[in-house]
Amino acid sequence: MTASQPKLFVKSYGCQMNVYDAERMADALAPEGYVAAASAEDADVIVLNTCHIREKAAEKVYSELGRIRKMKAETGRSPIVAVAGCVAQAEGAEILKRSAVVDLVVGPQSYQRLPGLLREARAGARPVDTDFAVEDKFERLSPPTPKAIASRGVTAFVTVQEGCDKFCTFCVVPYTRGAESSRPVSQIVAETERLVAAGVREVTLLGQNVDAYHGEGPDGRDWSLARLLYELAEIPGLARLRYTTSHPRDMGDDLIAAHRDCPKLMPYLHLPVQSGSDRMLAAMNRRHTAADYLRLIARVRAAQPDLALSGDFIVGFPGETDADFEATMSIAREAAYASAFTFKYSPRPGTPAADRGGQVAEEVKTERLHRLQALIADQQAAFARALVGRRIEVLLDRAGRHAGQIAGRSPYLQPVQLVAPGARIGDLIEADVVDVGPNSLFAEPAGGARETRSMLAEAAV
Ligand code: 5AD
Ligand code: SF4
Repeated sequence: MTASQPKLFVKSYGCQMNVYDAERMADALAPEGYVAAASAEDADVIVLNTCHIREKAAEKVYSELGRIRKMKAETGRSPIVAVAGCVAQAEGAEILKRSAVVDLVVGPQSYQRLPGLLREARAGARPVDTDFAVEDKFERLSPPTPKAIASRGVTAFVTVQEGCDKFCTFCVVPYTRGAESSRPVSQIVAETERLVAAGVREVTLLGQNVDAYHGEGPDGRDWSLARLLYELAEIPGLARLRYTTSHPRDMGDDLIAAHRDCPKLMPYLHLPVQSGSDRMLAAMNRRHTAADYLRLIARVRAAQPDLALSGDFIVGFPGETDADFEATMSIAREAAYASAFTFKYSPRPGTPAADRGGQVAEEVKTERLHRLQALIADQQAAFARALVGRRIEVLLDRAGRHAGQIAGRSPYLQPVQLVAPGARIGDLIEADVVDVGPNSLFAEPAGGARETRSMLAEAAV
């Protein structure tokens, strides 16, 4: 590394796809000599990789820009400031008007053009690129180096599908990420092989509607997500596969069967339902009923009885009555989640529900959110407690909180703490669950390290 190498700092908000995109932005700039900065204060280029899904998320960008402005004034430094991600896509040139500190705005479909845009910004232009590119973004983005992959750990995301054609009436995604499109199978296989060759053991396939994946296969036909999963499962050294996020309408029979037949596919399903009220589901344009959802998860559980179900819920959608909310509580009870994400409805400009009558009062939303969250927390704790005494496989992915500890993930995505002398990050080990903490499981490697029980108990305090 030389002193003249420019330093890049990317701060990501929002979903896993932004985490993946942040890595691809760093990869796109690596051939230009960019290296990672330890902090924004230290950077020559600061990228805010933003999220537009809810109002609170979108507002964060402006408070962060305020902090950067202050930092620039205090330190006398003048890094290039770029706004990327879904706020960039949604607000475009508005951002330049609202914040003088911004030098460049780039939407998620244009990251392959980042090196050129940065050169323009450095020359004093304030470029805005929110085009939906006709060229294949992924084809043009530089791949990560083995060193970069290794520095990111043993689990990795791979975007396989982007955009959404469903147009749920609350959601900005069809506008910010555009129409649904799937990457070709060969591209995804090559990317995954490269990750695995550099030490990755678990890959999560990402898409806003990942179960609608229909990329071109090597035979020239469209392949389903299930077929893609079987293909990736053949890669030696890859231990685990996951995918997220799914829409109930797109769970194909072959994907359900893969939960039974593909051992590398983890017994975990994130399947948002949003509401348990058919009236609300119709108003949301979800195109399924509560009964459809319950029937679907019964079919997935028939294929894989040992399933951790996760979901998303919105409370306080316009017109939601107490009875509608009770239907949501009731579907959550019946579906029995291992975890779930719960949100208050947030009106998003440009989406059909934003201007509807019947907007629900904030206090009502808060009260409903708390009730639903309490139920989900109980379900999550019950799911974890039921694992005590069971043997599970743990993928070790980071150092533990205390000396001698190592941490990993269960097949159900829970953090696991254990003491496993000699084990290394990247190992997949059998372990017996001995206790549960508020956010993790405590386990002992099968057939060893019995003396660790007291240490684990101590660590749990
Ligand atoms: N308000 C609240 N939650 C939302 N989500 C999407 N749009 C909104 C909104 N306008 C939630 C949904 C979705 C998750 C990614 O975010 O539950 O599944
Ligand atoms: Fe948004 Fe609905 Fe598409 Fe999910 S399926 S990204 S919630 S429009």
